[in-house]
Amino acid sequence: MSKLIVGMVGFGVVGSSVCKTLLQNRAIINARAGKEIVLKSVVVRDKAKAEEKLKALNAQQVKVSDNIDDILEDSEIEVVIELMGGVEFAYQIAQKALLAKKAFITANKAMLAYHRYDIAPLAKGLPVGFEASVCGGIPIIRVLKDGLSANHIIAIAGILNGTSNYILTQMQQHNRDFQKALLEAQALGYAEADPTLDINGGDAGHKLLILASLAYGIHAMPEDILIEGIEGIKPDDIAFAKEFGYVIKLLGIAKKQDNQVELRVHPCMIKKGAMISKVDGVMNGISVVGDCLGESMYYGAGAGGEATASSVVSDIIAIARGESAAMLGFERTLDDTNHLRLKNKDEIYSRYYIRLYVSDKPGVLGQVSQILGKHNISISTFLQRQSDEEQNNVAKMLFSTHHCYEKDINGALAELVKFDFIIQNPYKIRIED
Ligand code: HSE
Repeated sequence: MSKLIVGMVGFGVVGSSVCKTLLQNRAIINARAGKEIVLKSVVVRDKAKAEEKLKALNAQQVKVSDNIDDILEDSEIEVVIELMGGVEFAYQIAQKALLAKKAFITANKAMLAYHRYDIAPLAKGLPVGFEASVCGGIPIIRVLKDGLSANHIIAIAGILNGTSNYILTQMQQHNRDFQKALLEAQALGYAEADPTLDINGGDAGHKLLILASLAYGIHAMPEDILIEGIEGIKPDDIAFAKEFGYVIKLLGIAKKQDNQVELRVHPCMIKKGAMISKVDGVMNGISVVGDCLGESMYYGAGAGGEATASSVVSDIIAIARGESAAMLGFERTLDDTNHLRLKNKDEIYSRYYIRLYVSDKPGVLGQVSQILGKHNISISTFLQRQSDEEQNNVAKMLFSTHHCYEKDINGALAELVKFDFIIQNPYKIRIED
């Protein structure tokens, strides 16, 4: 059996799981690849730590180096796997690997969010695998690239970040404190090295951009799309959602209508009972609507070493089989790519939940509803909660609205904050019915 020799940059949670998977499932992997897959070298900052991990895996035959050139200049190595994270340095590795005529595999969604269209022309027919970059173990890249390739994609809505889903699940189902739930997610190895991107929607935004490139060929950067995180969600919002039959989830949404594509990541209130509302804990779930297939749903572990390694190794196998010459996909000219435009953030049309903390005095509700009305916002439901003991004279006003434009909601909230009766910045959550 011929060999496919690979080198890896970075040997953290995912890297060591890739090594473990290659050893543990060697027979089936090699049989499916049609080649013997050999992890020859890893490049790391801390050699001693990597050597210790390799010893624990009984894989001391893997060479350890702190010099990337040891992989790039090794003519035996045909595939470079980047698992270190970060953006610019990881991009340099992609460039160097492709210039050295090596196939490239990455799990790095942040780097692809910024550089996917730079990498495509460098590949020049060399395989670039990135199955692990979106939703860990769920093979959603292949679903869009292959399985649904006969469809126009009408919409994608997904829970794309396991850490934030874990935190929201803990908060909603177990009354857990935000910080405690985050610490648990970190301890379980789900969170990014800097969990800011898990919490602020950035990680889900990166993944959404990769999916949108495959589905629509849309050339957008993270700064071009609406991205909000879960940091602002309070127990009052959770209580409102429960009372009105909703669950709060952080969703990445891509929708195509006529020649416009809408891309956004933000917390949503979703009807309890909807399939995606049942995706709990660290799990990810993605609904994809295609014009031939209709809706399909993909569910599985979106974070964690072994789940992500499952996708990385699937890319290695695909390369061994010679299947993956056009794996990157972004360079494809889609029929309608030239005519598609990214929808402006202000044009988002949705229902909203609004939370206001106001001075509990006569006339405030009248003024609030007048301002909402002035901005074309029609109230659907309203709930006023009593002040907490420690916050005497504060009323919590919780609204849901009928459909309206983001521009109008933002205009109304900007006007409201100017009033003395507003105690805290207003907060909104979009409602996806
Ligand atoms: N930190 C990511 C998450 C890992 O929690 O989903 C997978 O990209």
